[in-house]
Amino acid sequence: MGQSKHDHSTLKFPEGFLWGAGSSAFQVEGNIKDSDWWEWEQTHQPEEFRSGQAADHYNRFEEDFKLAQSLGHNAHRLSLEWSRIEPREGEFDDNEIEHYKTVLKSLKDKGFTVMLTLHHFTNPAWFAHLGGWSSGKSVYYFERFVKRVVPELKDYVDLWITINEPWIYATHAYVIGHFPPQKKSYWLATKCFFNMAQAHKKVYRFLHVVDPHVKVGFANPVESFETFHAHSLQENLAKWVLDNIRNHSFNWFTQKTHDFLALNYYKHQRISINGHWQLPSLVEAVKTGKDVTDLGWEIHPEGIFDVLIDFSSYKLPIYITENGIASKNDDRRVRFLLSYLKEVYHASQSGTKIKGYFYWSLLDNMELNNGFDPKFGLIEVNFETQKRTPKPSSFVYKEIIKNNGIPHYLLKLLGHGIQVEEVVKSK
Ligand code: BGC
Repeated sequence: MGQSKHDHSTLKFPEGFLWGAGSSAFQVEGNIKDSDWWEWEQTHQPEEFRSGQAADHYNRFEEDFKLAQSLGHNAHRLSLEWSRIEPREGEFDDNEIEHYKTVLKSLKDKGFTVMLTLHHFTNPAWFAHLGGWSSGKSVYYFERFVKRVVPELKDYVDLWITINEPWIYATHAYVIGHFPPQKKSYWLATKCFFNMAQAHKKVYRFLHVVDPHVKVGFANPVESFETFHAHSLQENLAKWVLDNIRNHSFNWFTQKTHDFLALNYYKHQRISINGHWQLPSLVEAVKTGKDVTDLGWEIHPEGIFDVLIDFSSYKLPIYITENGIASKNDDRRVRFLLSYLKEVYHASQSGTKIKGYFYWSLLDNMELNNGFDPKFGLIEVNFETQKRTPKPSSFVYKEIIKNNGIPHYLLKLLGHGIQVEEVVKSK
């Protein structure tokens, strides 16, 4: 048998690939006092879980963007905080619109491709008092807000995300009870989901009237699913249902209103039949003995490959708009980045049109209902002093960006016990 040559070449990504990181306003800006989340956390969350000044990104965006630039990023994803811009119903604050213009301009001046999310989980408190996304009027309110801000900001935005993770928002706010208003009603969740779909379509059309060449999508929280027992009919049926509802339903209800797919990938889910009735259900990753993140989510790089291949059937360009690990051990983040990006590379090699990757997140941030404990950032934030310190993983990411791919010498970091700093410094 002939010996195959060991290949030392870089795993190259397509030319013009976007490399960046993401954030959302409420998770990093601080002091967003007119939002529903702020109002809710004062009475429903222990003090250490409240957003407070968060990473003070509202005042430190310039420093943060300079850091991202020095780390080689060529793209950035961020969101607007609706409650800053429209703190009271129908009253728009021109100073805040000006603020966001300055923020976006700062990114453009540094050469970033800008991806702007119009809605990322939080709402103005007045909007929530009027019934929030479960009310039929939500579509009108959101569209009015969008129509006010888009003409002012459009020159600084390259890619638009209408709504971040409608599925997560609807289920967490109206079924699971993790997000305000913590209702537990399938009916309200369904209304919320369909109102968001309406809102997406309207905003998509409006953006295309403003500029027929704009690129618009929504951020889809996709998961990969696997059955425990390969031949179990119940498990396979459950897998089919879950995959279709969770990963594809918003796409169906908003057909023909996507210029690209924006995929947020974090989780691999295993399905198993159990109990007396042999009903299929999701198995908690920690109980399977698999490697998990600090939030208990299974680390399964192959999952991102499967999802990318699945979504390639839409024949639209794909951006990975979120992918990241909550870990206090940055070596794990390095291995996470390399192993997931390796799978993204393979999906790209298989013909999937992947155009960018946004690591979640640029900074350690306020992880919504989980507070400040989970550490997702490429850059450490000391929330007492607001000092920023790039983590070793951010330099590994920088090397990948510089090479527009994964150089062979970095792949050896996938082995354990390697000092990341040393390998990166020696380059
Ligand atoms: C959300 C982010 C969040 C991340 C990690 C995503 O579902 O869009 O806001 O921080 O998950 O939990």
